[in-house]
Amino acid sequence: MLVARTSRPYVILNAAMSLDGKIATYTGDSRMSSPDDMRRVHRLRASVDAIMVGFNTLLVDDPKLTVKFVKGHAPKRIIVDSTARTPLNSYVVKTAMDIPTIIATTAKASRRRVEALKERGVSVLTCGKGPLVSLRLLLGRVRALGIRRVLLEGGGTLNWSMLSNGLVDEITVAVTPKILGGERAVSLVEGRGVALVKDGVKLKLLGTAKYGPDLVVRYKVQN
Ligand SMILES: NC(=O)c1ccc[n+]([C@@H]2O[C@H](COP(=O)([O-])OP(=O)(O)OC[C@H]3O[C@@H](n4cnc5c(N)ncnc54)[C@H](OP(=O)(O)O)[C@@H]3O)[C@@H](O)[C@H]2O)c1
Repeated sequence: MLVARTSRPYVILNAAMSLDGKIATYTGDSRMSSPDDMRRVHRLRASVDAIMVGFNTLLVDDPKLTVKFVKGHAPKRIIVDSTARTPLNSYVVKTAMDIPTIIATTAKASRRRVEALKERGVSVLTCGKGPLVSLRLLLGRVRALGIRRVLLEGGGTLNWSMLSNGLVDEITVAVTPKILGGERAVSLVEGRGVALVKDGVKLKLLGTAKYGPDLVVRYKVQN
């Protein structure tokens, strides 16, 4: 099993994607993994120290980010939320006393919101003063807290920031046999993108496997 360098954790991006590259429909529905693939994802979750998602994923899905179907420890949860708007009634906040939960913000987050989250057991890490969370700072700080392997579970905007900053080591995508379309449907990677194919993030195929109807492809990122 591959684990961290010392400056940041080893990061694995995992997603379920339609054949046309969408990770959700235009309404935000993202339930596309087969039961077999779900079991693979939960085995992967059980192998990491923390699971990380972006603020929109938190809002749209209200995810649990826990391990089901397989025996294993509960990974920590990291929410990337610049202004600390994570709802106090979200699942991750309601269970923060039992499952360690980190919300990464910037200095722009309101002190009142930060205090409300802390009172509910959330650890709030201020990562930079910019409009968005400094992901490099965040990863360095969680590594210092002992987090050596992180599973990045999207969405597309956070995936772009992580990939374009060279902060992802491995990618696993379950291609679900569906085409979803939709100009406003979120793709595996959003953001500005690159102008030329030669400047794209370079990947090396590690393997393929079939999980029920889904084709799972694994790549190493050539950072
Ligand atoms: N099929 C799958 O495997 C899968 C997995 C995950 C998500 N999804 C779907 O993806 C959709 C959400 O994706 P999304 O692209 O809209 O949003 P996202 O990537 O989940 O969240 C993006 C938000 O994170 C916050 N953020 C803070 N610092 C950031 C940084 N440095 N870089 C990037 N983001 C930063 C920003 O909000 P603030 O400015 O408010 O902080 C930003 O708008 C949902 O529909 C969800 O269901 C699907």
